[in-house]
Amino acid sequence: MASAPAFKVLLDRTRILTRIGELAERIGARAVEHDLLLVCVIEGARTFCRELRQRLPFAVECHEIRASSYGNGTVSSGSVHVEGGEFPVEGKTVLIVEDIVDTGRTVQKLGEFFRARGAADVQVASLLSKPSRRVVEVAIEHLGFEIDDHFVIGFGMDVAGRYRELPEIVLYDEAVERAAGEKAAQA
Ligand code: IMP
Repeated sequence: MASAPAFKVLLDRTRILTRIGELAERIGARAVEHDLLLVCVIEGARTFCRELRQRLPFAVECHEIRASSYGNGTVSSGSVHVEGGEFPVEGKTVLIVEDIVDTGRTVQKLGEFFRARGAADVQVASLLSKPSRRVVEVAIEHLGFEIDDHFVIGFGMDVAGRYRELPEIVLYDEAVERAAGEKAAQA
């Protein structure tokens, strides 16, 4: 089997999991257990959401929602399409669990979506944020790491469906990917 391209590691697994533990502790300490509802933005946030839930001090209701804006490239299309979200949220504190807040459009759209459906409060837990890319102002109540304007993959995040399975968060680099493909073809 060909090995994964040697992408540069931005955040190693230990650091990520330690930070998720801190976030879970903070969320657990502030939440009113039965009012909290987690909404995992698939597919990118699945890994983060799973690790977060495992570290919360109580079991919590969790649903998935799909919000797509990226298509198959690394540049946002600008409009956010939401699928799912039919579960009841009236009177609940909805915690949107995201992998990355980039322009902020996804989180903004989901916030409007859940408030319009009667959520008592909407908060955001995001593993990463790229503040330099922000187009709309959004609050992130529980943030893992701020990063510079890199396209990152791994720990559930992908480029065109690839590399979600990488255990760490790495910098996507087309040249590194191409070189690995050429090496594999020669072997
Ligand atoms: P926003 O609506 O521009 O904030 O985009 C948020 C979504 O874009 C995230 O949930 C990701 O799916 C995707 N995204 C943004 N930056 C990256 C990245 O660096 N790697 C992978 N996905 C990204």
